[in-house]
Amino acid sequence: MAKHIFRRVYLWEWPVRLYHWVTALAVVALAATGLMIGAPVAVMSTREAYAGYWFGTVRFVHFAAAYIFTFALVLRLYWMFVGNSHARWSAFIPVGRFGTFFRELWAVIRTDVLQLQKPPLDFVGHNPMAATTYACIFLLSAFQIATGFALYAPMSAAWLPGLFAWVSPLMGGDAGVRLWHHAGTWAFLLFAAVHVYLVLYHDVVESRGELSSMVGGSRFVEHQVEHR
Ligand code: HEM
Ligand code: HEM
Repeated sequence: MAKHIFRRVYLWEWPVRLYHWVTALAVVALAATGLMIGAPVAVMSTREAYAGYWFGTVRFVHFAAAYIFTFALVLRLYWMFVGNSHARWSAFIPVGRFGTFFRELWAVIRTDVLQLQKPPLDFVGHNPMAATTYACIFLLSAFQIATGFALYAPMSAAWLPGLFAWVSPLMGGDAGVRLWHHAGTWAFLLFAAVHVYLVLYHDVVESRGELSSMVGGSRFVEHQVEHR
């Protein structure tokens, strides 16, 4: 029987973990309330109209979660410049090592997606496929923030929504912005489903503590294998 010796490596610093779980919770709240805003249900009530405010509460939760989501991303962007090598922008944009990156990306696709290659690959931080996907998620987050605050701008006197007032004319008005904001929601939900599946898949197949790494920050890597 092959002997496996594992070493514990600390990868995700607390700001990355804080960003991760705040974002995950905020996305659940934003998608749930957002889809209700997009297709409101008719709630019948015998109360006076002025006494009902449930839809206002739905919108309030959306906007509160939106601010939390925005500031979590700002923290994460800051950490891309001061964090460790797994948190830095260069972990997501492989400047100077595009050749290796794309070779390894192809190896991940062959192994995890097409299942053409048997031995599990051993990366210390995010594998190139995950890193590319997360780069897209950071961009998608910025897109949801820009379109969301563009929709919010006419209803608010605050400075932050005002910064995005230029987005609406660019997308042909509020109707266009809502459509793109709505599409962004489904992109997030699609990502979340595949992401959770892959996290569980790696956790089970590789037994390196993938799942708990986003809680405690550490994961295990094999000693004798050459690491990338
Ligand atoms: C909507 C929900 C979620 C979103 C938007 C999301 C987003 C992300 C992002 C952006 C990263 C990269 C972290 C970074 O370097 O800053 C990441 C990594 C990770 N996420 Fe999530 N996540 C979500 C839900 C979850 C859930 C429910 C789990 C647990 C089952 C999970 C487990 C992990 C783990 C273990 C990693 C590290 C994976 C790796 O090695 O690449 N995530 N996630
Ligand atoms: C992952 C992040 C987000 C998701 C998933 C999301 C989702 C949604 C969805 C599905 C809608 C309904 C669109 C429609 O079909 O008409 C919506 C509306 C809206 N969202 Fe978001 N949203 C997000 C982030 C934000 C942010 C950061 C803001 C900034 C304030 C924001 C502000 C708004 C506004 C103002 C509306 C229109 C509300 C109304 O007309 O009453 N959203 N959102």
